[in-house]
Amino acid sequence: MAEVVIVSSKGAAGALVAGEIAGLIRRDPEVVLGLATGSTPLPVYEALPAALAGADVSRVRGFALDEYVGIDPAHPESYRNVITREVVEPLGLSPERIRTPNGAVDTIEHAGEDYEAAIAAAGGVELQILGIGTDGHIGFNEPGSSFASRTRVKTLTAQTRRDNARFFDSIDEVPMHCITQGLGTILSARHLVLLAFGEGKAAAVAGAVEGPVSASCPGSAIQLHPRATVVVDEAAASRLERADYYRYAWENKPTWQGI
Ligand code: F6R
Repeated sequence: MAEVVIVSSKGAAGALVAGEIAGLIRRDPEVVLGLATGSTPLPVYEALPAALAGADVSRVRGFALDEYVGIDPAHPESYRNVITREVVEPLGLSPERIRTPNGAVDTIEHAGEDYEAAIAAAGGVELQILGIGTDGHIGFNEPGSSFASRTRVKTLTAQTRRDNARFFDSIDEVPMHCITQGLGTILSARHLVLLAFGEGKAAAVAGAVEGPVSASCPGSAIQLHPRATVVVDEAAASRLERADYYRYAWENKPTWQGI
């Protein structure tokens, strides 16, 4: 079962997860992080400078979850640019040590395989940050994705394109295809930290944490992982049946244990 931590605010979630990441970086300055884009991980990235308190991050390595296929690399919403703007630059990471899947059309046939090889060569991901889509997707693994899948091209659902239209001038600009780490790739990371905020994510969180393990809710793959932490605010936790138990377990957690 995933450990579920119900927090009072996005800020509290950001501080909690940033503290864990900062600890990893202090223990291993070359640690490999799995980075997510979208709105959800922003409180973590915002809390990291304070948590790091000047620690050396120049050798930290990172792999983003996904990228749009065929998007102009100069487009501000390409995930390469989003990661650069929201993570690499503010934290002072070394850009060449942070990878995103290559969404260029001319090399797309082997881009998934190349990305898997790069993750393996780095020794795998230590901590993978995850958001969750309203339809239960993690990465861009839409409902129906295989739990064994590796990095590959997927077609975005109409729902995900509508959800992401807020980042573009119109929905027609949202690419139809993406290249995403597979559920099998994500499950290979050593620690999964899934965050979710707001009522709109409550059903997806309940499905991922307490629903049947099913490809119909890709987020439910986290139930197969030996170390998964779910950090949610009250609204995103509002449909969890065992919320009282999660609060009780968190309040009584041995102090020496992190998340
Ligand atoms: C982003 C990603 C997606 C998002 C999800 C939620 O790299 O892989 O799974 O985490 O679409 O998006 P937000 O956080 O914008 O609600």
